[in-house]
Amino acid sequence: MKKGCKYGTHRVLEPKGVLPQPANKIDNNMDEIYDNEILINVQTLNVDSASFTQIEEQAGGDKAKIAEIMMGIVEKQGKHRNPVTGSGGMLLGTVEKIGDALLGKTDLKVGDKIATLVSLSLTPLRIDKIKDIRPDIDQVDIDGKAILFESGIYAKIPSDMPENLALSALDVAGAPAQTAKLVKPGDIVLVIGAGGKSGMLCCYEAKKRAGVTGKVIGLCHSQKSTERLMKLGFADYVFSADATQPVPVMQKIQELTNGEMADVTINNVNIPDTEMTSILCTKDTGLVYFFSMATSFTKAALGAEGVGSDVTMIVGNGYTRGHAEITLQLLRESKALRDIFTELYA
Ligand SMILES: NC(=O)c1ccc[n+]([C@@H]2O[C@H](COP(=O)([O-])OP(=O)(O)OC[C@H]3O[C@@H](n4cnc5c(N)ncnc54)[C@H](OP(=O)(O)O)[C@@H]3O)[C@@H](O)[C@H]2O)c1
Repeated sequence: MKKGCKYGTHRVLEPKGVLPQPANKIDNNMDEIYDNEILINVQTLNVDSASFTQIEEQAGGDKAKIAEIMMGIVEKQGKHRNPVTGSGGMLLGTVEKIGDALLGKTDLKVGDKIATLVSLSLTPLRIDKIKDIRPDIDQVDIDGKAILFESGIYAKIPSDMPENLALSALDVAGAPAQTAKLVKPGDIVLVIGAGGKSGMLCCYEAKKRAGVTGKVIGLCHSQKSTERLMKLGFADYVFSADATQPVPVMQKIQELTNGEMADVTINNVNIPDTEMTSILCTKDTGLVYFFSMATSFTKAALGAEGVGSDVTMIVGNGYTRGHAEITLQLLRESKALRDIFTELYA
């Protein structure tokens, strides 16, 4: 077997010298694997919500067109990095082959069912056939193969919950795990896109951390997701608004917090142009966590400067230590969360 680089640079075709994520094209030939790679027989792609929303819009909701766009992306790049949003997603599959250099080093064995926890935007992928598209949960069943690099993280699918349930939660595992780190007792927390998948997990975790002296405010969009979050009871106050409209939302948060504004704002939307709402609703000394992949660094940085806000802004790294375990544990500890995730995603 050929020797590979830990970070997968051996598969980068262009431009040379970059890592696989920013590369425009990577080698997705799976006939032979490198000595430090894991070959996965892919069952399901969980496309990132911002990415899937964009593809679905481009396709006018037509499934055949969605399939064509997805096949086109992989054909061109050797991976599924959405050219508009830049984001990927993750996948569920079975370990088919393990490179020689990893034998004895990895806890995986051939036949293990895993979810990759590194983005599809850097994962060598070959799609042989798109078998089913489930637009309501951003999942696509395929025949195909993928490569996990030596530095790539993964989670073994637990035996105590359905595969699709675990996959859906693991897709956004970074969000509740970061929430656990960022929210302190007594904090006022605003979750934007609170009725969505990562939003519900963040509200639950934020309430747990902020405690009785804190306050969790959930900004939802549609009536459906607003009612869903209200029923779950994870947030102290739930309302519906358009997060692309900063001033009315800011006024609402002023009213709800007696002018204090949020200590921590967590942005979980799947559409662009919500940076200023997040910034204006947060205290000058507060913190915004942009988990949304539709976030623009330029809009956030220049926007904060433009309104004279000294807010701290965190890029939503999809990984934080222990994120998979923390997130799966939430589904075990909260029956309400598990039930709603089962209803929506499993
Ligand atoms: N940082 C990372 O590593 C990472 C990893 C995975 C995902 N993500 C990103 O995290 C974000 C959330 O993912 P998810 O899976 O939780 O998505 P999701 O379940 O689709 O939730 C997105 C939410 O955004 C809400 N929304 C849409 N338009 C809105 C508007 N104008 N105003 C207010 N809310 C609006 C939606 O509300 P309605 O349904 O009511 O319209 C929905 O609840 C996405 O951008 C995704 O790309 C990041």
